[in-house]
Formats: sequence, C-alpha cells, structure tokens
Amino acid sequence: MKEILFCVLIMLTSNAYALLPKTYEARFVSITSNGTKMPLDINQIRFLGRERLANGTFELKEDLDNESVLIVGETFIDSVGDGEYKQLPFTAPKQSICKALEAYWTYFEPSIKFGVNTDFPAHTHPCPVPKGRYYLKDVVLKADNWPVIMPRGFLKAVATVFKNDEDVGSLEIVSQISDLS
Ligand SMILES: *[C@@H]1O[C@H](CO)[C@@H](O)[C@H](O)[C@H]1NC(C)=O
Ligand SMILES: *[C@@H]1O[C@H](CO)[C@@H](O)[C@H](O)[C@H]1NC(C)=O
Ligand SMILES: *[C@@H]1O[C@H](CO)[C@@H](O)[C@H](O)[C@H]1NC(C)=O
Repeated sequence: MKEILFCVLIMLTSNAYALLPKTYEARFVSITSNGTKMPLDINQIRFLGRERLANGTFELKEDLDNESVLIVGETFIDSVGDGEYKQLPFTAPKQSICKALEAYWTYFEPSIKFGVNTDFPAHTHPCPVPKGRYYLKDVVLKADNWPVIMPRGFLKAVATVFKNDEDVGSLEIVSQISDLS
C-alpha cells in the first residue's frame, strides 16, 4: 500500500505526462503585459471565435540580456470566476531570462510553433532573447505538457520581470481550465 501511494506521488510530481490521460482542456482568456519600463508589449493580441485562438503581434522592445533580465513565475486559480484568485504551488524561482525560457518553454511548445503560427524563434532558445515584433496566428492553447492534475477554473500565470534588480512589470496569461468535453 505504501509503495502504491509512493508511486502515485511520483507520477503526480514528475513529468509523467504520458502515463495518465489528461482529463481537462485549456483555452485562452487573455494575455496582457504592464509596466512603462517593461521591455515586452503583448497587448496587441486578439482572441478569435469560440475556441479563443490567439492572434496578433507582440513586441520585445530591446534584446533581453541574460545578465540583467530576471523573471519570477507564479500561478493562481479562480475556481468560480468571481475574481478571487488563490495561489497555486506551481512557481518558478527568480532566474535569468534565458534559463527561464529554456526551462518553461515546454509548456507552450505544443501550442506555439516557429514557422507554423509564429516567427518567434523560441525553439532555438536564443540568448539574449532578440528584440523585434513577432506574430501569433490562430494559436490554440494546448495543455499537452501541463501537469496531469489541474484544478478547474481560471488559471492565471504571472511572470514578473526584473531589470537590473528593478521590478519593471509583468506578463499575465489567463486561461480557462475545464473538463474535457
Ligand atoms: C502588473 O500586473 C501584475 C500582475 O497582474 C500586478 O501584480 C502589478 O501590480 C501590475 N503592475 C502595474 C505597474 O500595474
Ligand atoms: C491574425 O493575425 C495575423 C498576423 O498578425 C493578421 O495578418 C490577420 O489579419 C489576423 N486575423 C484576424 C482575423 O484578426
Ligand atoms: C544565463 O544565466 C544563467 C545564470 O546566470 C546561466 O546559468 C546560464 O547558463 C546563462 N545562459 C546563457 C545561454 O548564457
């Protein structure tokens, strides 16, 4: 019994994506960024149709240098849609931008593909992350590489950006998690 419990814990906490079928799906609600000194502007994205396909452009206003730009990631859930968010244990400690892109891009990799629906070269983990205006075209949010167990509701992921130790703004992605239809 103890062994079984242990195995289940390992499965839930490791990246055992393929071992358990996923029972939920995700779709975009919103993507926003803020802060006047924020080097990223992602407020030009629209969401199309019932599927909420992300479409539009975002801009990196300068190269994101691995030494001066650090980010912290946090996640929150609003189970009933009343705007009351509770923090979840999925977090990313403060780390350099290139390291973070390398470590966490996997969550977006099934959704955002270079040459297919974006020209942002995330798959090569470029460092520094090059400035420019990039497009997203009809991006469907795919939760393939997300944790097997996920609470239902509105999931908010916030990446806070620090430049030379100053909090310059945040990137916020809200998605809706629901039972597979
Ligand atoms: C930007 O958004 C974050 C996360 O939503 C929030 O905590 C922060 O207060 C906002 N900052 C500004 C300058 O509006
Ligand atoms: C979707 O985004 C692309 C690239 O930015 C743009 O050319 C196209 O007009 C957009 N489509 C809609 C329906 O907004
Ligand atoms: C970025 O910085 C981190 C920590 O400072 C380091 O571990 C990593 O190797 C650097 N990445 C690149 C591509 O320079």
